[in-house]
Amino acid sequence: MKIIYTENYEVMSAVTAQLIAAQIYRKPDCVLGLATGSTPLGTYAELIRMHRSQNLNFSKVRTVNLDEYKGLSPDSDQSYAYFMRENFFRHINIRPENTHVPNGLNPDEDAACSCYERLIDDLGGIDLQLLGIGHNGHIGFNEPDDTFIMDTHAESLTEKTVRMNARFFERIEDVPTRAYTMGIGQIMAAKTVILIANGADKAETMARFAERTIDPHFQGSILHAHRNAYVIADKAALSILIKQAPQLISNR
Ligand code: F6R
Repeated sequence: MKIIYTENYEVMSAVTAQLIAAQIYRKPDCVLGLATGSTPLGTYAELIRMHRSQNLNFSKVRTVNLDEYKGLSPDSDQSYAYFMRENFFRHINIRPENTHVPNGLNPDEDAACSCYERLIDDLGGIDLQLLGIGHNGHIGFNEPDDTFIMDTHAESLTEKTVRMNARFFERIEDVPTRAYTMGIGQIMAAKTVILIANGADKAETMARFAERTIDPHFQGSILHAHRNAYVIADKAALSILIKQAPQLISNR
C-alpha cells in the first residue's frame, strides 16, 4: 500500500481522476468500482471536466458501485443509484445499462447479494476500485467487526454511520439502518484500489494506518495487504499520520 500526500482536496481529486483516466486509456472497457459520499465528488467533477475538454471516453466503461441502502428505490433522491446518476453518470457518455448498483429494493437479502456477486463475476472482476473511508474505518459499508466479511452482504449500519449519513436526509429517522455492500473479498480482488480521504475530521482515522496491523475493527487496514493499493489523502487528513509515521508517506 502506498500513501500519497496531496496539498488539498483539489489536488487529491485531480490526481485520483488522472489515475482513473489512465485506467480507461489502458483498457477502454474496464470495470470501475465506484463510491458515493462527499469525498469522491471532486474526483467525479474532474472526470466530467476531462470528458468534456479532453474527450475522455466512457462509452465502453462498466461500473459497479460499492453499496446501496436497503429499501430505497433508484429513483429516491437519497439512494446511491440517484447520487451516481446526478453527480457523475448523466454528465458523461457512459451507457446507463453499463452502470450497476446493488438493488436496494430487493427485500430478499441473500438473493440481492448473490445476484450482485454474480454480476461482478460476469463482468470479469473489478479493474480499479475507488474507496472513501468512514470515520470508524469502514470501507463500503463494511463496518467495524470481529472479522472481515468477504462476500457481498447486508450490513446493519452503526449508530455513528447513521449519524454521519443523516446530513443527506431530512431527519435522522429517515436514514435506512441496513445496506447492501460489496464485501472485503471483492474489494481486495480489484486489480487496483484507490482510497481517498480529505479534511481534518479524517486525521484521526488516517492515523490508524500507522499501526500497520490488519484489524477488522478498522476495516480499511486490510489494504495494507493489497499489492496495488494507493491511499491518496490531503494535508489535513494526513496531519497526524505525517507526524507519527512519516516513513509511510511515499512522497514526503
Ligand atoms: C460510500 C461508501 C462509504 C463512504 C464513507 C466516507 O459508497 O461506501 O464507505 O466512502 O462513508 O464517506 P464520505 O466520503 O462522505 O466521508
